[in-house]
Amino acid sequence: PVRLIADVDTGIDDALALIYLAARQDVDLVGVSTTTGNTTAALAARNSAAVLALAGRGEVPVWTGGGRPLVVEPATTPLTHGDEGLGHAELPDAADALRPGDPIAQLWLPQLREHPGETTLLVTGPMTNLALALRAEPRLPELVRRIVIMGGAFNHPGNTLPTAEWNAWCDPHAAHEVYAAFESMPVDRLPIICPLNVTETIELHPALLDTAAAAIGVPAPHLNPGDPRRRGPSATGNALFDLVTDALRFYFEFHADHGYGYLAQVHDLLAAEIAADEPLGARYEPLWVDVEAGSALTRGTTVADVRHLLDRSPNARVLTAVDAQAALRALSDALEALAGR
Ligand code: BDR
Ligand code: CA
Repeated sequence: PVRLIADVDTGIDDALALIYLAARQDVDLVGVSTTTGNTTAALAARNSAAVLALAGRGEVPVWTGGGRPLVVEPATTPLTHGDEGLGHAELPDAADALRPGDPIAQLWLPQLREHPGETTLLVTGPMTNLALALRAEPRLPELVRRIVIMGGAFNHPGNTLPTAEWNAWCDPHAAHEVYAAFESMPVDRLPIICPLNVTETIELHPALLDTAAAAIGVPAPHLNPGDPRRRGPSATGNALFDLVTDALRFYFEFHADHGYGYLAQVHDLLAAEIAADEPLGARYEPLWVDVEAGSALTRGTTVADVRHLLDRSPNARVLTAVDAQAALRALSDALEALAGR
């Protein structure tokens, strides 16, 4: 099994990442922690617990503490993910799974120390908690199995500032500290970075939901604008499918309004699949990376020394390509498995 801690800012694509992980019966999700990013850390915890409950993993503990960026003021993005992080979705109460307290001291460090070399850390929000954990336990790189992070954009337009990706922008000082901590480590210890360049190649279109609906046996949402069969807020009787549809309806509209087309970019889903060893034909390049934290114009810009112009050793394994269709199929399989159960 894949032992995993997920650090998320749930968030519509974070929710899809959790759903995918919940469907994978060989994934042992030992706990979830949250940061402020798409929404507040507290709402992200509530959202994560609700998603996991609907996905049949209500027993997974979700820590509510922590999550304030190291230096900059906290920011959230209701425009992208809705006022409370999951678009138009209605959530069940899953407060039983919530654990108040410090996720580093109460989840990360005990789990990593008790199971050295066995746990994968998946980070799909700003790197705040990872930076704090590295401060608290400098041996963390040796205690994890590996670290998989969604964040950054390399020689590629940003989605927050012209050159900055959202997670890196939200806590650029944390990202800088994380990259610095891995300099001069052996390549197989370096964190895997899933940047926008690659995550943007995974385009989720409304047709995926229609196909999943048919497989599960619920009415298809037909969300494409102008489709006469288009359905409003979902009440199919399948709560997990309704959550996904109502969240994605919002996310499709956001992407359409911002010139990406009527589709959803599911960045964090890809990182979760990589973390759970989904076969995706992934390719990586070990690179030296740093993050700009000082300039207002380029805050959160991730710089990779692709031409080896600086005399620095790699501190990250940057994902450069995956099989996008395989990544989407893995989500369909997860939805069909869970919603059909
Ligand atoms: C990242 O920012 C958030 O909006 C998404 O959840 C993802 O983690 C993409 O830039
Ligand atoms: Ca996220």
